[in-house]
Amino acid sequence: MLRLNTDYALPFLKEPLDALRPQILEASKKTLHKSGAGSDYLGWRDLLLKPNDALLDDVQQTAAKIRSEADVFLCIGIGGSYLGAKAVIEALTPYFPSDQHGKKGSPEVLFAGHHMSGAYMRDLLRYLEGKSVYVNVISKSGTTLEPALAFRFIREWMGQRFDDADRRIIVTTDPSSGALNQLHRELGYKKYEIPRDVGGRFSVLTPVGLLPIAVAGVDIRSLFYGAVAGIERYSNENSDNPALQYAAIRTQLLRQGYGVEVFATFEPRLSGMGEWWQQLFGESEGKEETGLFPACVKYSTDLHSLGQYMQQGQRFLLETFLMAEDDEGGIQVPDFDANLDELNYLTGRTLTEVNRKAYEGTAKAHKAGGVPNMTLWLDRIAPETLGECIYFFEHAVAISGYLLGVNPFDQPGVEAYKQEMFSLLGKPK
Ligand code: PA5
Repeated sequence: MLRLNTDYALPFLKEPLDALRPQILEASKKTLHKSGAGSDYLGWRDLLLKPNDALLDDVQQTAAKIRSEADVFLCIGIGGSYLGAKAVIEALTPYFPSDQHGKKGSPEVLFAGHHMSGAYMRDLLRYLEGKSVYVNVISKSGTTLEPALAFRFIREWMGQRFDDADRRIIVTTDPSSGALNQLHRELGYKKYEIPRDVGGRFSVLTPVGLLPIAVAGVDIRSLFYGAVAGIERYSNENSDNPALQYAAIRTQLLRQGYGVEVFATFEPRLSGMGEWWQQLFGESEGKEETGLFPACVKYSTDLHSLGQYMQQGQRFLLETFLMAEDDEGGIQVPDFDANLDELNYLTGRTLTEVNRKAYEGTAKAHKAGGVPNMTLWLDRIAPETLGECIYFFEHAVAISGYLLGVNPFDQPGVEAYKQEMFSLLGKPK
């Protein structure tokens, strides 16, 4: 269950939030009744309204097989075809790999095709040597250069290492078009479909995210049904709907000149959620010369690098914290009689408690320094709460986009760099 605390944001609003109410209702109608721009891409809601349990079972079975055979599960994809899986896996798996009782733990989930570093590819291929590798190439269009090129390297490598390479490769792509469908038809790769009406950055709860997440050992059913609980909770027009409040506050602040939203976590394993959020909001809102610029920070680490700017730099920042209520681990600060490090005032408190005070102090100080801030609280970091959190932000970005007057579901600007790059590379027209 999520909770949004807006106490440190509301005092900054020049108009009461109610003033935005008619526009929020209109944005909400467009989202709930598919009557706004880009409404052909609201399939991310439909898949939660009519859960496909057979698909969840199928993905779980495939994942179980891979988990029993693979040392490495390599996911090839970029943008919406990798950020969601990475975020959830990072949030829900241990910081350090564990080999329990001599049994092999989960396969290591690695990523490729999310950039074009030659050094990364060289080192990756070296690292994979001697390991049992399964590959999931994920691209809705099948034409994105980064993953397509990475897959070419990996396909060659797999063919040279494994007699059953074609069985070890799974494609996740559009139902029928694109190069990956051609490869699937010719070479018999197993295929999962990305529904046509679900855009990349909204696809984490399709096989795009579900398969890698399941291979990592996360309970995808709880994740998925957490999002189903989210759609039930946030699909209404009530003024106390936190997804609508979040969308309204950030939009109003943008109108008042706050142009950058900083997404902050105090738990490193939640920072992948920030990267996923960054794409979701950046691509959905940043068009027609509007939109908040989404930036991510990791606290308390970045309080020692960006903290100065946050406190006293240009005052165009708002901040959203993602926090968890539970006291994980309960690790207590040890007691030392001698108190040579002068930390005995913390003896017996948990690290989580100390970290929580760092958050409370930061939120308070930033508010005092002119940074409106909100906090989204998860009661714990678990598949259900992350599923709900995913839906919360998906719903909020649809509302925010409509409040800005843009189509939240397209990304025409992404093509510009591609055209320049392809022309420099001499791609045939
Ligand atoms: O949200 C989006 O649509 C994009 O970020 C895409 O996910 C990204 O460009 C990758 O596209 P594709 O899956 O077609 O390779």
